[in-house]
Amino acid sequence: PLTTTGELMAEARAARTAVAAFNVITLEHAEAIATGAERADRPAILQLSENAVKFHGGRLQAIAAATSAVARASGARLALHLDHVTDPDLLRSAHPEGIGSVMFDASRLPYAENVKATAEAVRWGHERGIWIEAELGKVGGKEGEPPLDAHAPGVRTDPAEAAAYVADTGVDALAVAVGSSHAMTERTAALDHELIAALKEAVPVPLVLHGSSGVPDQEIRAAVAAGMVKINVGTALNTAFTGAARAFLEAHPSAVDPRKYLVPAREAMAGTVAHFLGLLG
Ligand code: G3H
Ligand code: ZN
Repeated sequence: PLTTTGELMAEARAARTAVAAFNVITLEHAEAIATGAERADRPAILQLSENAVKFHGGRLQAIAAATSAVARASGARLALHLDHVTDPDLLRSAHPEGIGSVMFDASRLPYAENVKATAEAVRWGHERGIWIEAELGKVGGKEGEPPLDAHAPGVRTDPAEAAAYVADTGVDALAVAVGSSHAMTERTAALDHELIAALKEAVPVPLVLHGSSGVPDQEIRAAVAAGMVKINVGTALNTAFTGAARAFLEAHPSAVDPRKYLVPAREAMAGTVAHFLGLLG
C-alpha cells in the first residue's frame, strides 16, 4: 500500500533504524523496488528525481501515477517522494494525494539564498501536508556538476550551521555532506562518523545520507547506528539493472523483445533493493 515518507521516517526514528529510499527512472525500477521490499519485508521510499522527470519529458503526473499505482498494489508499505527538486514550478506540481514528500535542493546556492528558498518551499509544503527535506553542504557528484573534493572546506556540513539552518527553514529532514558522493559505481566511500554523531547531536530533525551506492555495507550500518534515518540509493540499482541486461544481450545477440532482457535486469535490481534493506536491521 501507499504510505508517506513522514510516517515511515517517524517510525524508523522511534525504532532507531532507517528507511531506504530508491530512485525510480522507469516503471521497471518501481516494480523492482516493490518486489525487493516485499522480499525483505520492509517499507521503502520510491523517489523520482527532477532529472528522472525531465527524462520523461517533464510529465511528472504520468510517471508519478504509474509509480504510485505500483505502490498501492504492493504488499510492502511504500511512499512516493520527489527528489533533488531545484525548480520551484516542479515543487508546486506535486500533489499530496500521490507525492507526500519532496527534497528541495538549494544546496548549490550561497547559504543565505539557500535558507530563503528552502524556507519558502517548506511554507508551501506544510500548507499542503507535504514533508520537506533539504540539503546543507555539498554531497557532490550530481549530474552536470563538476567533481568535488569531499575534504575541501565548505563541502562537509557544519553542525552549528546545520542547527541554524533547520531552525531558520523549518525543514522536516536534513541531507548532510559527510563523505559520500553521488553516482559512485564502486563502494569505496569512507564516512566521517564523528561528524555524523555531531550532526545528530546538533540537529533536531532526522538526517539523510545521499549517494549511498558508493558506501560499503559496514559504513551504512555504522551510519544508521550513528543516526542517519534516510538512506538514498540510486546508482547501485542501475549498476545491477544494466549489468544484467548487458549480460543477457551479450549471451543472446539476436534478442529483440525488450522483455527478454528486462526480466533479468528487473530481477537483479530487486535483489539489490533487498540487499540494502537487509542492512537496516
Ligand atoms: O538522491 C539520490 C541519492 O542520493 C542517490 O545517490 O545514485 O549515488 O546512490 P546514488
Ligand atoms: Zn541525492
